[in-house]
Amino acid sequence: MEAQTGKTALVTGATSGIGHELANLFAKDGYNLVLVARNGENLNQIAEAYAQQFGITVTPIATDLVDPKSPETIYDETRRRGITVDVLVNNAGMGEYGMFANETDLQKELSIIQLNATSLVHLTKLFLKDMVQRNEGKILMLASVASIMPNPLMAVYGATKSFILSFTEALQNELKDTNVTVTALLPGATNTDFFNKAGAEGTRAHQQAQQTDPAKVAKDGYDALMKGKEKIVSGFMNKAQVAMSHVLPDELIAGSMRKQMERPGESKPERESEDQDQSLLITAIAVGFVAATTLLWAFGAMDHSWKKEASSVRRKTRLAGKSLFDSLSLN
Ligand SMILES: NC(=O)c1ccc[n+]([C@@H]2O[C@H](COP(=O)([O-])OP(=O)(O)OC[C@H]3O[C@@H](n4cnc5c(N)ncnc54)[C@H](OP(=O)(O)O)[C@@H]3O)[C@@H](O)[C@H]2O)c1
Repeated sequence: MEAQTGKTALVTGATSGIGHELANLFAKDGYNLVLVARNGENLNQIAEAYAQQFGITVTPIATDLVDPKSPETIYDETRRRGITVDVLVNNAGMGEYGMFANETDLQKELSIIQLNATSLVHLTKLFLKDMVQRNEGKILMLASVASIMPNPLMAVYGATKSFILSFTEALQNELKDTNVTVTALLPGATNTDFFNKAGAEGTRAHQQAQQTDPAKVAKDGYDALMKGKEKIVSGFMNKAQVAMSHVLPDELIAGSMRKQMERPGESKPERESEDQDQSLLITAIAVGFVAATTLLWAFGAMDHSWKKEASSVRRKTRLAGKSLFDSLSLN
């Protein structure tokens, strides 16, 4: 059994996927836990198992974070029990798959905004105030690579993830003179129940998700949180995708994301050759980008003004990519 830290972490969405893996890591490190999800039976089972295995105190709170009163209920319950929340993990989230105009369900999308964005802000407001007063605390926000780029066929989900990253980055600035840290975890497609729940089974992103273990994503997020890092993109390919998104034209990025979100063979025939052209173009620009970055790195080793040069080359690369894109009339 690990030594107890006497500290408490509150994890939303702790019964499945990335949230459950994060809860495992806290439990192994001797944190007491407050676990939140809708399904009370699952929560109680997990809470009992942790208490037995790790000798920690676990408080399950079964509540639906889509209910606007839920964050207050959670906060009041921790106060009533005299629990100080040292670490808040805003993990619970869901998506909805389909064309926004005529396929997805508006009520579900409004619930997604409530869960992914509004309840996250509400919980953060309640617990952050206390952390700032104590001048101590850590928050982990579940963003996504979709925070950085548009997410066709999951448009509302992607927008909530951009909101989370923007909110997190603003808080990081506001809190920089305190000992409270806020970390954003940006996973790519990960092997959890997320795609099934969103109705996105069989998409390329879902297939790709099978390669990524939620335990590895959770560990990346946990380590970054403990070090007080601002942002962690989990996985090499996702890091490359995020880096590319800063230099490629927005239309190309949206097109590439659209392709990932489709089921194989689902693109309209006239888009298939366009997709192939886009893939070729992305590969060509990626190779150019890597070559330019390597050159810059070498240049930086010789000249301390490399940062200025890097931003200038990045701007030029983006403009070159845009004009190449326009000239190939892919938009
Ligand atoms: N999987 C991916 O590919 C991926 C990629 C990037 C980012 N993310 C993000 O990672 C986070 C976790 O996702 P995951 O993939 O681990 O999903 P998951 O396996 O579906 O787990 C979702 C968790 O959230 C809880 N939850 C869902 N709706 C809730 C609600 N209304 N109120 C309270 N709890 C609720 C679920 O429990 P109950 O059903 O019992 O409520 C479950 O514990 C999400 O924010 C997601 O956007 C996931």
